[in-house]
Amino acid sequence: MHISSPTAWSSSDDTGHKIPIQHLTKPGLQSDLENPKPVSTHIPTEDGGYQIYKAAGKLEGKKAIITGGDSGIGRAVAILFAMEGASSVIVYLPEEESDAQETKRRVEEYGQQCHTLAIDLRKKENCQKTIDVSLQKMGGIDILVNNAAFQDMLSDISELDESQWERTFDTNIHSFFYLSKYSLPHMKKGSTIINCASVNHYIGRGDLLDYTSTKGAIVAFTRGLANQQMLKGIRVNCVCPGPIWTPLIPSTMSSQAMEAFSNPPMGRPGQPSEVATCFVFLASQDSSYISGQCLHPNGGIMVNG
Ligand SMILES: NC(=O)c1ccc[n+]([C@@H]2O[C@H](COP(=O)([O-])OP(=O)(O)OC[C@H]3O[C@@H](n4cnc5c(N)ncnc54)[C@H](O)[C@@H]3O)[C@@H](O)[C@H]2O)c1
Repeated sequence: MHISSPTAWSSSDDTGHKIPIQHLTKPGLQSDLENPKPVSTHIPTEDGGYQIYKAAGKLEGKKAIITGGDSGIGRAVAILFAMEGASSVIVYLPEEESDAQETKRRVEEYGQQCHTLAIDLRKKENCQKTIDVSLQKMGGIDILVNNAAFQDMLSDISELDESQWERTFDTNIHSFFYLSKYSLPHMKKGSTIINCASVNHYIGRGDLLDYTSTKGAIVAFTRGLANQQMLKGIRVNCVCPGPIWTPLIPSTMSSQAMEAFSNPPMGRPGQPSEVATCFVFLASQDSSYISGQCLHPNGGIMVNG
């Protein structure tokens, strides 16, 4: 299988600077992303190639809810979970239906069920509906992946509209609270919650002030909930990705920000598959002695925490 190298995602302008190849309109469809396509199922090899993810039955029979599962990191999580034996409900915005259907098709290639739910998670009643539909379709919930997010760039707090602040918090942290609260009564010993934060709150990005604030809240929420649920045998952890090639980036970032984005210490953006492996680890018993912690698939960026 041929996959474009992750370093080939930018071209050069006549000054020799790397420039992004494309921008997408929000929320951004993965099907519109080209050159290269995000990689969901293959892992980079030492010699610069890719090999298919090697599954080992780590999530056999598990039932997962994956928000933002239509594209990017969420899609890669849904497919790797399926390769490991888990079925899923993926949740996304209605305008992303075509991406969701592609995720479903790819999950089903691995013999697992993938139920699709187009719903806006900013409303708490929709978070409750997500749990109700998941119980109805799968008969239980073993894993909750809180991954959906909204971001938009602004240079100064004076430009940050109150409605955007609220939208970002409603999507990125309030939905995590409601989905966790409504899932937990149906979870049992061995169940896991995995939240998606970001490297950005460790950096303190001023051009993503609202988004960065929610990502810090997610880490604190992870730690508090982990301590609360520890003795019930339910583990709660967090993944804090660095620059990953998904629709979120070309649909929300300026050319300048994307140029910087392509250059972490490892010199390339990461692929969704390279983040999804962290979710598999945290969902499985391989991480049985880990709770309240963050993993950092971020291309080598040093963080304190
Ligand atoms: N791509 C990166 O570089 C990067 C870096 C750090 C963190 N992250 C985090 O990774 C996670 C996944 O993002 P991605 O990069 O895969 O982008 P993505 O655009 O593929 O996924 C984001 C998803 O959020 C969902 N979503 C947004 N608002 C919603 C709403 N109101 N209701 C329901 N669903 C909603 C969308 O369906 C979308 O699929 C996010 O939490 C993001 O903050 C991404």
